[in-house]
Amino acid sequence: MFITFEGIEGSGKSTALERVREHLEGAGREVLVTREPGGCRLGATLRKLLLDMSSRDIISEVELFLFLADRAQHVHEIIRPALDAGKVVLCDRYADSTVVYQGYGRGLDPVVLHSLNDLAVKGLWPEATFLLDLPAEVGLNRALARNVTTGRQTSEGRFEAESLDFHNSIREGYLTWASVNRTRFHVVDADRAPDEVANDVCRTVDKLLRGEEKKHA
Ligand code: TYD
Repeated sequence: MFITFEGIEGSGKSTALERVREHLEGAGREVLVTREPGGCRLGATLRKLLLDMSSRDIISEVELFLFLADRAQHVHEIIRPALDAGKVVLCDRYADSTVVYQGYGRGLDPVVLHSLNDLAVKGLWPEATFLLDLPAEVGLNRALARNVTTGRQTSEGRFEAESLDFHNSIREGYLTWASVNRTRFHVVDADRAPDEVANDVCRTVDKLLRGEEKKHA
């Protein structure tokens, strides 16, 4: 099963994802955790390019094709083989990030972005996507606090340095896109304690896996 995690900066995706990993591994499942950008060897180089403050002058179309290049290689090299081996794949950001950030954020056409994604991933869409939703100010404050403790803002802060307006449009974009793709998206209130959020997500994952088992029984 392929599950992705989406949300604005500081929405707690990585924490929830780690909790789901522990939960599933505890139940004896094989799990692969990965992320975009940067989930494969080529992606590590692209991630640096994409998130570095010195890339501020790249135009939206170049940004788009770099994210798509990262994703195409990531699916081919990492995600598809893990799914073929029967693993549960948990991915921190995926194609919906492109639709929302490059579409609702940068102004490119979300419908075109969906088609380009489809080409890059050869039709591989997740069975479930968790959107961790919270107000942009809350997420940005969390992300800034995290950056201060990890010293991260100097190397990977290009998107976090965008204005509050940009992040508000990202939040709204996610909610719009989730409402268009209702069957796949699970919108979770992320403005709560991390444990509460993670417990909700784990419960839904259990339900999805039980449903999948029934289908194959
Ligand atoms: P990352 O450090 O992984 O952010 P987070 O911890 O919030 O997941 O940085 C990824 C940044 O790249 C994030 O701001 C969203 C952006 N992004 C896009 O604009 N388009 C994409 O397709 C992807 C995957 C990410």
